[in-house]
Amino acid sequence: MNSAAGGKETLMKTIIRATDIHKEYKLGKNNFVHALRGASLEIKEGEMTAIIGPSGSGKSTLMHIVGVLDRPDRGEVWLLGERVDNLPKNRLPKLRAAKLGFIFQGYNLVSTLTAMENVALAAEYAGHSRRESLEMAETKLSDVGLADRTRHLPTELSGGQQQRVSIARALVNNPKVVLGDEPTGNLDTVTSNEIIEMMQEINQTTGTTFILVTHDQEVAKVCDRVIHMRDGVVLDEGESIATSPS
Ligand SMILES: Nc1ncnc2c1ncn2[C@@H]1O[C@H](COP(=O)(O)OP(=O)(O)OP(=O)(O)O)[C@@H](O)[C@H]1O
Ligand SMILES: [Mg+2]
Repeated sequence: MNSAAGGKETLMKTIIRATDIHKEYKLGKNNFVHALRGASLEIKEGEMTAIIGPSGSGKSTLMHIVGVLDRPDRGEVWLLGERVDNLPKNRLPKLRAAKLGFIFQGYNLVSTLTAMENVALAAEYAGHSRRESLEMAETKLSDVGLADRTRHLPTELSGGQQQRVSIARALVNNPKVVLGDEPTGNLDTVTSNEIIEMMQEINQTTGTTFILVTHDQEVAKVCDRVIHMRDGVVLDEGESIATSPS
C-alpha cells in the first residue's frame, strides 16, 4: 500500500496503455502520411507527463488516439482497464465526457456561449441536467479563479482567462485523465506560468493524471516524466536522453 511518504510514485497503477499504434492519413489517391509507426505509451495514475518531439513527429495524432477522438489503424488503446480503440462510435462521446478532459492550444470554446455555458455543456454531455450542469460549471469556474467572469463570452476574456475556462471545462466531470495539446502554446510567458502552476496544483491536489503535448520547456519542467517522440514512435526513455539535443 502507500508508504508514509505518500508520493505519487507509490501509486503505480497503469491508467492508459497504448501499444504499437499505427496511423496513416490519406492525402490523395496513392499518397499516405504514416503519422504513427508503432508508437507505444504507458501512463500511471496520477502522473503528469509531457510529450515532446519535433513538429510532425505524431504527438497530436497520438494524443487524439489516446483520447478516443480518433481511431488507430493498428494497435490497442486501454483506458482504466477497458479496451477503447474498438468501441462502437456511439459509446465514445459519453466515455470521453465521463473519463477524460481536453485542453487545446486554441481553447476550442463555443464563441456564442458564455464561460458558464461552455463549461456546463461538458457536464450535460456526461448526463447531468441543465440546472445541475450550470451549478457544476459555476463551481469549477470559481475554482480556476473566474467567479466574476461566468457570464462573459469568450471574446470578452483574455487568452489566459479563456484557457482557464477550458481547464474548468476539462475538469467539470472530475475526469481521471486530462489531455492537453500545447495548452500554453498561445499564451505569453507570465500567463503561461499561471496556467502551468494551475495544472500542477490540480494534479497534486486531486491526483488527476495529466498528459501534455508541448514545446514549452516550462511545462516539461513541472512534469514527472518527459516522453520523446520522433518519426511516429515514442522513444525509450534511455534512448530519448541519448538522442536529445543539449
Ligand atoms: N488530418 C491530417 N491529414 C493528413 N495528414 C495529417 C493530418 N494530421 C496530421 N497529419 C500528418 O501526420 C504527421 C503527424 O502530425 P501530428 O499533428 O501528429 O504532429 P505533431 O507532432 O503534433 O506536430 P506539431 O508539433 O507541429 O503539432 C505530420 O506529418 C502531419 O502532416
Ligand atoms: Mg501537434
